[in-house]
Amino acid sequence: MPVITPYRDSAKGKKEQVAEMFDNIAPKYDFLNHFLSFGIDKIWRKKAIKMVVNHQPEYVLDVATGTADFALECLKTGASHIVGVDISEEMLNVGRTKIQKLGAGDRVVLQSGDAENLAFADSYFDAVTVAFGVRNFENLTQGIGEIYRVLKPGGMICVLEFSKPTVFPVKQFYSFYSYFILPFLGRLFSKDNSAYRYLPESVEQFPDGENFLEVLSKIGFTQTRQHRQTFGIATIYIGFR
Ligand SMILES: C[S@@+](CC[C@H](N)C(=O)[O-])C[C@H]1O[C@@H](n2cnc3c(N)ncnc32)[C@H](O)[C@@H]1O
Repeated sequence: MPVITPYRDSAKGKKEQVAEMFDNIAPKYDFLNHFLSFGIDKIWRKKAIKMVVNHQPEYVLDVATGTADFALECLKTGASHIVGVDISEEMLNVGRTKIQKLGAGDRVVLQSGDAENLAFADSYFDAVTVAFGVRNFENLTQGIGEIYRVLKPGGMICVLEFSKPTVFPVKQFYSFYSYFILPFLGRLFSKDNSAYRYLPESVEQFPDGENFLEVLSKIGFTQTRQHRQTFGIATIYIGFR
């Protein structure tokens, strides 16, 4: 299967291209996220983190944290230490400004870091969260394996990711929206010609639903489950080390 990358003509690898793309769209990312999803992404994030609250984590890692929306939502778990890592420095800078504005710097810290090579000791975190990140990993198994490694035994993984709706007419409408309207509006506002074309293509290729649960199980996660959101446009995946 061909690797889906943001820039078709680039000779760079997927990881480098993904970092470049998010660096490009960082200033407009939050606006476009909420605008293009009609604000539903906020509801999905809240629902996902609600599932982590019962786990009562102290140390949380938010992988592919971007502009820190999911990391900030993690404050609701009561965690005292939340670390967000990302390969895009520009996304992190937007996130740092938000954290500073909210005065959350004593509990949320952002640092540069690659999901596929996490700079943390084994069994360090009580919970690891990832929102709209795993689809962008160059090597999905390597990234999920790293998350497994840094989780304590019994630790929880919570992944929120786009998935493919299967029911008529949502499937047809979603397909039209994501292949025609979304790239047009994305191009208009972000000035990056490829970013919002890459989005539906990467969603299409991502092993969602049962296939992603299988990826989690193969790595060693147990009690895995999925919660489809809004006709399957996004899915929350839960598992435990
Ligand atoms: C769609 S954004 C999601 C950001 C944020 N989690 C949110 O919910 O808005 C995807 C993020 O994944 C990051 N990313 C992609 N591959 C990564 C990797 N290997 N390690 C760390 N971050 C990565 C990108 O730089 C980007 O900021």
